[in-house]
Amino acid sequence: MTSSFPSARPSSDLPQIDTTVAHAARTYDYLLGGTDNFAVDREAIERGSAAHPGGVETARINARAQRAFLVRAVRYLAEEVGIRQFLDIGTGIPNADNVHAVAQQVASESRIVYVDNDPIVLAHAHTLLKSTPEGITAYIDGDLRHPARILAEASATLDLSQPVGVILVGILHIVRDDADPAAIVSTLLDAVAPGSHLVVSHLASDIRSEEMADVFKRFNESMSEPFVLRTHDEVARLFDGLELLDPGVVPLDQWPQPEPISDGSGETVIPAYGAVARKP
Ligand SMILES: C[S@@+](CC[C@H](N)C(=O)[O-])C[C@H]1O[C@@H](n2cnc3c(N)ncnc32)[C@H](O)[C@@H]1O
Repeated sequence: MTSSFPSARPSSDLPQIDTTVAHAARTYDYLLGGTDNFAVDREAIERGSAAHPGGVETARINARAQRAFLVRAVRYLAEEVGIRQFLDIGTGIPNADNVHAVAQQVASESRIVYVDNDPIVLAHAHTLLKSTPEGITAYIDGDLRHPARILAEASATLDLSQPVGVILVGILHIVRDDADPAAIVSTLLDAVAPGSHLVVSHLASDIRSEEMADVFKRFNESMSEPFVLRTHDEVARLFDGLELLDPGVVPLDQWPQPEPISDGSGETVIPAYGAVARKP
């Protein structure tokens, strides 16, 4: 893409897109086959993925598995649990099957608040604001590391006294330990009603450990924010106080899928955990 924007706006209002370092939203867009990425993003993926035996195709399979998990979890919450409000933090560049499209297909009155801190996602936010007439979508240019601010702004659209689906898919591994991801999750879940659900996917440090450590050592050299891989136990601790739904905290390819995810090797291929839990 080009980085030009309508010239009628004052330049101070324009999203500042930094093309000198790679950004998570843009590298993910590249993996999913999008066009909203720059050379620095593509190079970060190529450099990191060189440590996967299957190269970039392995990284693409992982990204597609994460997106499939997100769609499946939202559909489950909308269809089976009856959730009608979603707070999707770490939205990413709009893709096929955005959260509002999935949720509003099940229930047109669904309300969705999207949150991301990347200016390129802000630049695309208009795509996310095409709600059904009965429902609402809103976008917050906000940072997960400041959850109280997100909650304050989200409460203009969501009724926090009713259950909310809190979606943290592919984002907590971009939050460093010193920002205390578990405390962030607690703040969010403390503010929503019983019956709310938390959806998380998180890159794993204890599945194909050496390969993943090598991939992300290389990848992080190019990133604006480093990725932090965590163990099964570290990811499970994010759900303290919540009721994990079956099958628990499992590699994404063990999550019930419409079609099996595989690179053909027959082994676990997705080095990321996914889980859904209910606030009692
Ligand atoms: C890998 S993408 C995941 C997109 C989407 N959730 C999905 O699974 O398809 C991660 C997103 O999180 C956003 N992000 C990273 N750190 C963030 C933060 N501290 N606050 C808000 N958004 C953040 C990035 O800009 C990026 O769009």
